[in-house]
Amino acid sequence: MYITRRERFSAAHKLENTHLNTKENKQLFDKCNNLHGHNYELFVTVTGAIKPNSGFIIDLKDLKKIIQEKIIDKLDHNYINEVDFMKNKITTTENLCVQIWGELKEPIKLLGAKLYKIKITETENNSFEYYG
Ligand code: NI
Repeated sequence: MYITRRERFSAAHKLENTHLNTKENKQLFDKCNNLHGHNYELFVTVTGAIKPNSGFIIDLKDLKKIIQEKIIDKLDHNYINEVDFMKNKITTTENLCVQIWGELKEPIKLLGAKLYKIKITETENNSFEYYG
């Protein structure tokens, strides 16, 4: 069984490879090299055994709390390029998925479940899924 919690955040970013110069970045990323923002949706899917005493795989209140503290509080209404777990990364949604996986894997394990998937929708048309 899989359980998915959705959270939303709005954040700004610009795509930039710090190893390239201004002109090269412009060529590679085009308009995405300009400062702009998205209304993202984050879907965190977990799996695991149903606990006999609660009937839960994970207490969704606890899951909500760790996603809020570790991810949403840092990203929402912020500049992604300067968020601690995105420092020195190109702020693509691919990299966001990978870094968010890294931030949530252990805390979810401590709650007795297993992180299964991170999905982020960046626009109506573009979504990204990561299975670790
Ligand atoms: Ni963008």
